[in-house]
Amino acid sequence: MVAAASKCRSCGKPAVIDLPRHNANFCAEHLKQLCRRQLEKAIDDYNMFDPGDRILVAVSGGKDSFAVWDMLIDAGYAADGLYVGLGIGDYSDESTRYVTAFAEERKLRLRTVDLRDEYGYDIPTAARATKRVPCSACGISKRHLFDKAAVDGGYDVVVTGHNLDDEAAVLLGNVLHWDIEYLARQLPVLPAANGFPKKAKPLVRLTERETAAWCLLRGIDYLVEECPIATGNRHLHHKGVLNSIEQESPSTKAAFFLNFIDNMAPLLADQTAAASGDLGRCARCGAPTTGETCAFCRLVDNASAHEPVPVELVLGKRGRR
Ligand code: AMP
Ligand code: FES
Ligand code: ZN
Ligand code: ZN
Repeated sequence: MVAAASKCRSCGKPAVIDLPRHNANFCAEHLKQLCRRQLEKAIDDYNMFDPGDRILVAVSGGKDSFAVWDMLIDAGYAADGLYVGLGIGDYSDESTRYVTAFAEERKLRLRTVDLRDEYGYDIPTAARATKRVPCSACGISKRHLFDKAAVDGGYDVVVTGHNLDDEAAVLLGNVLHWDIEYLARQLPVLPAANGFPKKAKPLVRLTERETAAWCLLRGIDYLVEECPIATGNRHLHHKGVLNSIEQESPSTKAAFFLNFIDNMAPLLADQTAAASGDLGRCARCGAPTTGETCAFCRLVDNASAHEPVPVELVLGKRGRR
């Protein structure tokens, strides 16, 4: 991670990590301090939530969502976890084990929703039934269930583990296509509106290298494996492009995303208002929707009527779009 003789910028002790974007090296203690400060700065700058708020953290078993849950608890916030069992073969079985162990070891409250048990389908089957990439059914399911769990459970905000690398890569994709509607909504916090709960991404000021270091220093055991059927190649490619720019010119990635939020997003604010408009309610489940029945209820109908499809049958499609 760092050259042997490097010293921490804050205390002069041996460093464990070099962070070129801060033009400095840090020891374990001061790296954790930096992570805590970046978290608090994001929460304060973007008015994500207040100390007394009830927070629901969506946790996948990966490093980012564990890091954000751990950091929020460490900072004294009241945060429960939410895990959605997606039924993606061994990957989901492993994720379930990691998330359950994390919550049990720390005596944290974990809510779980299992697609197969509660809605009669899983993501491989939904992908086959809808004839679309698995991420499409996965995104519809996760968004709906995060919102529902937050509203039903009376939480003030739903938190996800999206980090600076994720957000900068998505921003690059949206800019390359000048997708104004997506750009207008690519904010670190979305207020509660139209029956949707408030949503926040407190890790937007931390890179994935920093969240991984946080987990390492805090002894957090996370699932390294990525989803085997995700077709996230576009974002992976954008991350790679941004990393090579960052290598030549450290701190560009943070400037790209954070200056967009400060300087550009306010100019697009009326686009968000137009995009969110007035919504009706799903005739089946009551969720906000533009149509008669929401996308989730339509997905449940379609996928639960299909015979179960094992994950191996959709693995061959990995990477295709
Ligand atoms: P992804 O969409 O897989 O990049 O994940 C983005 C964020 O969504 C993660 O940081 C988590 O906060 C949340 N998340 C992803 N998968 C799950 C899951 N199965 N259950 C609950 N939260 C999840
Ligand atoms: Fe959603 Fe893999 S986690 S398709
Ligand atoms: Zn130090
Ligand atoms: Zn519905």
